Amino acid sequence: MAVRRFNYEFNGVHYYRFSIYSLGNNIQTVYTFVLDDLLIDTAQRFNRDNIWKVAQEHQIQKILITHYHEDHTGNVGFLMQALPAEAYAHPYTVKILKRGYKMSPLSKMISGKVEDASMHPILETDTITTKNYCLQPIYTPGHCEGHYCYYEKNNGYLFSGDLFVADKIKYFGSDESLLTQIESLKKMLALDFDALFCSHNPKVEGGKKRLQNKLQFFEDFAGKVTRLYHEGKKSKEIFALMHLKENYYYKVLTAGNFTSENMVKSVIRDIKKKK
Ligand SMILES: [Fe+2]
Repeated sequence: MAVRRFNYEFNGVHYYRFSIYSLGNNIQTVYTFVLDDLLIDTAQRFNRDNIWKVAQEHQIQKILITHYHEDHTGNVGFLMQALPAEAYAHPYTVKILKRGYKMSPLSKMISGKVEDASMHPILETDTITTKNYCLQPIYTPGHCEGHYCYYEKNNGYLFSGDLFVADKIKYFGSDESLLTQIESLKKMLALDFDALFCSHNPKVEGGKKRLQNKLQFFEDFAGKVTRLYHEGKKSKEIFALMHLKENYYYKVLTAGNFTSENMVKSVIRDIKKKK
């Protein structure tokens, strides 16, 4: 397993790409963001040496976590102790990392183990400030429970965690909710911003339009699944009728946890919950 770091900067925001390679192929990439002495997310455990250099370079004092997944929290416990720094997250994320995040063997193999951490819970009414910036948590579940985006109103920056990723996506984790993500996307689009600092695919210009594209895609997708479901079709039939394609490499590698059919199943699950 090899790791690499790349640096970027946009209007005062320093951001870093952390990738993991296996057999020469990039198998996972995540970004972290630095505003003054504040770091948003902490990359994978296997990129510890690289994030440590970033943290020292910027003399990081505060850490904000978007959500508990291992590519965002792989070094939070380490950085809190080594710097030292204080870390903040949604109460659910705090709970997960305090009691110990139960990772799948595959996630551990790709990213490395996430250690326990004692972070501070913050609410949407709280703000975290640095010399030049003021960040507000925006509760945006759907990708997972406890997901926060962070909004910097004065500069029109939105740090969107895993809520964007791309205009159109093909695969879902088994516990994601597409309809909840639609509500979260609407909540984000009500904010005034242009730079979308997505944790996997930052769009520093025109970010709001890209998020609107994502919302449109999800609404179209959910509309089609809902119509076919009410016509009595099952998830496998809906999958075929919508001409969706499975990536069997992902499906096998993740033991069925990351599939295209999960997107269909997610909508059906939410329809059933509403009944
Ligand atoms: Fe995630």
